Amino acid sequence: MEMALKSATINVMEAAARKAGRGLIRDFGEVEQLQVSRKGPADFVSEADRRADRILRAELSKARPSFGLLMEESGSTPGSDDERLWIVDPLDGTTNFLHGIPHFAISIGLEERGEITAGVIYEPVRDELFWAEKGIGAYLNRRRIRVSSRGSFQDAVLATGIPVGARPGKDAFLAVMKPLMEQTAGVRRFGSAALDLAYVAAGRYEGFWEFGLSPWDVAAGIVIVREAGGLVSDIDGGADMLRGGSIVAANGELHMRMQKLIRDVSRRSQPA
Ligand code: IPD
Ligand code: CA
Ligand code: CA
Repeated sequence: MEMALKSATINVMEAAARKAGRGLIRDFGEVEQLQVSRKGPADFVSEADRRADRILRAELSKARPSFGLLMEESGSTPGSDDERLWIVDPLDGTTNFLHGIPHFAISIGLEERGEITAGVIYEPVRDELFWAEKGIGAYLNRRRIRVSSRGSFQDAVLATGIPVGARPGKDAFLAVMKPLMEQTAGVRRFGSAALDLAYVAAGRYEGFWEFGLSPWDVAAGIVIVREAGGLVSDIDGGADMLRGGSIVAANGELHMRMQKLIRDVSRRSQPA
């Protein structure tokens, strides 16, 4: 077994994620109790989300006081070092959490001079820590991970996110689903973009795509998929997936075919 040697940076990220993860696990236990109450657990979950955000902010800024922070719940705080930025989602998979579905994660990415160089995605229910550092490889706990080698759509299981409520892109989403329903072995919607990317890296899904995401949903996942040997792009095949909102991640065999299909079909669905 290839053993992982964690850098100081990864240790900082892991410690912060585990500490926030313990809080989330406790709060998730509460949520399961609250399901039956009439008011429901919504306010409690927002509070749990903010608590995790506070823990992560405190731990990361204590360990690296000069770095900037971009956090989903508490916004952006510039650091004295303007070349390093933590990009953090304290709870990815909020809807699952709220419904007592045990599939959610904490995501921490480190952007250095415009590039994501380290990422940690921690799934506290199964105690799965996905992590990667540029040039070092991608790992699940202590085991090296690789994207899958399934090279045909026919064998591929893909993951995505379905836009709900006021989110744009519903027609494009529906248009893309049809050919993928016909051509692949299955499409999943598990409800955490961060874990979707981690699962691509671990070879569980062959690919993942979604529109309308934010930097904290994808920052850590970008480097984890890449270090696992996969390819990540925006929907046009470019490199703007961190802030551009669209992402296609897959193994090397399938990435380009998937990206082109999604781009072409979703474009055709848009009225000119
Ligand atoms: C959401 C999840 C979901 C994705 C949504 C995200 P949140 O993040 O990642 O899978 O489809 O677009 O907003 O709100 O649970 O942090
Ligand atoms: Ca999220
Ligand atoms: Ca979130």
